[in-house]
Amino acid sequence: MSHIVLYLLALSALVQGQRITTIQLDGVQYFISRMNPYSPELNYFLAYQYCRSIGLQLASFESKEKADSITQYLSNAGYNKYDFWTSGNRLGTDMLIWMSTGLPFNATFDYMKRSSGDPTSNNEPVARQLSAVEQKTDSGAGDGCIALMAPDLQWDTEDCTRIKDFICEQTRCYYYNYGSIPVSSSQG
Ligand SMILES: *[C@@H]1O[C@H](CO)[C@@H](O)[C@H](O)[C@H]1NC(C)=O
Repeated sequence: MSHIVLYLLALSALVQGQRITTIQLDGVQYFISRMNPYSPELNYFLAYQYCRSIGLQLASFESKEKADSITQYLSNAGYNKYDFWTSGNRLGTDMLIWMSTGLPFNATFDYMKRSSGDPTSNNEPVARQLSAVEQKTDSGAGDGCIALMAPDLQWDTEDCTRIKDFICEQTRCYYYNYGSIPVSSSQG
């Protein structure tokens, strides 16, 4: 309850023009909640919403280089005392997916903590994989969300309702040419 209040306070601070501190690391802009005094720790879902509310998205680490550089930065800056939500989850299936990009975890490297016994992932498009994968019928939130965990910032599945720090990043601009059909609302 008090976290909700804090969250709303943080949002209203934003509206009132409190400065947001972001960093630029290897060409990617990040917001690290721990660097921002007005930003509360949040559960996965509110962290997701918070990132969107500041025009960013919960961070995804689809290459080893990107994962390594944020881990090094957080450690060197002394932030490895804290856990950080990423956009990764396995809420919909047992496969790990980056929620912000819709991509499965990169099979060429594995930063998941050994003990958690996670299913393997691969680089096939999610839509194709989903046809072969059983979708869940409960929320799976009990251990469904991926955080960088103190002190080594290895990735682990955590209860999505846990209150943690989080990392947002800039959104990416994709252009898909779907050849959309122009319609008007009165058309049936
Ligand atoms: C997977 O990780 C490797 C190593 O970092 C990288 O070169 C490759 O581009 C990544 N694949 C995707 C789909 O991002």
